[in-house]
Amino acid sequence: MDKSEVIVLAGGTGDLGRYLHEELIKDGSYTVALLTRKTDYSPSLPRTTVHQTEYTESSVLSILDETSATALISLIRCDGNEYLPIHTALVKACLQSETCKRFIPSEWAGNIETFPHLLRSYAHTRAPLRDILKATAPSDLKWTLVNFGWFMEYFLPEEKSYMKRIPGEFPVDPMAWTYTVRGTGDEPQGWTYRPFKRSYRSLEDIAASMAEYDTNPGPQSDIAELEEWTVTGATACPKDTTLRQREKYFSGIRFLTIAEMLRKAEVDGHL
Ligand SMILES: NC(=O)c1ccc[n+]([C@@H]2O[C@H](COP(=O)([O-])OP(=O)(O)OC[C@H]3O[C@@H](n4cnc5c(N)ncnc54)[C@H](OP(=O)(O)O)[C@@H]3O)[C@@H](O)[C@H]2O)c1
Repeated sequence: MDKSEVIVLAGGTGDLGRYLHEELIKDGSYTVALLTRKTDYSPSLPRTTVHQTEYTESSVLSILDETSATALISLIRCDGNEYLPIHTALVKACLQSETCKRFIPSEWAGNIETFPHLLRSYAHTRAPLRDILKATAPSDLKWTLVNFGWFMEYFLPEEKSYMKRIPGEFPVDPMAWTYTVRGTGDEPQGWTYRPFKRSYRSLEDIAASMAEYDTNPGPQSDIAELEEWTVTGATACPKDTTLRQREKYFSGIRFLTIAEMLRKAEVDGHL
């Protein structure tokens, strides 16, 4: 009989979800239950079940019960007005579930200790959910938030990554070797030593776009929100906290250096 733990991935069909899905099933201790709105999704990976849902509390709860899941991880990327209702339903389902007592909501962004309201849209989505999660304290639900800054995936050519590219979102375009300097140029932003062709977005340019953020939302203000996130330093994880958390939560894991990772990529034929 299969004794593996069932981990539920809400939105596990997406870009980040595919990475997590692949890694979880590589470890024989886990099987994956994918939550999706799609009615016709066939998993390409083994040790996986698929569950169609519209993310009502009752629907999620019945899937947690049916699978005897022990953890629910959200990788959903949705419109801002949908984030809180969906995630509130996920929290409530976990609270009622007999087995699923660990939850990670869809944050996956930057330094929320110093900048709890950046990205700016997070003030209306992730920040209120954090309050809802804190209010679960008397219960037996364990939750955590995972935030690490930009995914380094964006340095890869698009075809070597699952992460979709939104033009202008990430300041570096590794195909065209261009870099958009956001802010004054003095804000610390570490990339690589290879010279880039540069374009510039000053603090004034970014502030002008942000002034339109509420009144004229659209693709440009979405980019400006990310630019603001970058120039304030909110994308960066503070070194002290990062080292402390690395010791506390990941002491059994050896992290590859960049040089080791590049050597491994070369040996494995990825470069
Ligand atoms: N730090 C970074 O550099 C960085 C970069 C990218 C993303 N992120 C974060 O990582 C998380 C995942 O992002 P991603 O790029 O992997 O997302 P994604 O691929 O765009 O979407 C993930 C899944 O969300 C589900 N979804 C979309 N709209 C929904 C809705 N209205 N209701 C319910 N489910 C919906 C879809 O699943 P179905 O269609 O199967 O239902 C989709 O496959 C997000 O929180 C995002 O902000 C962080």
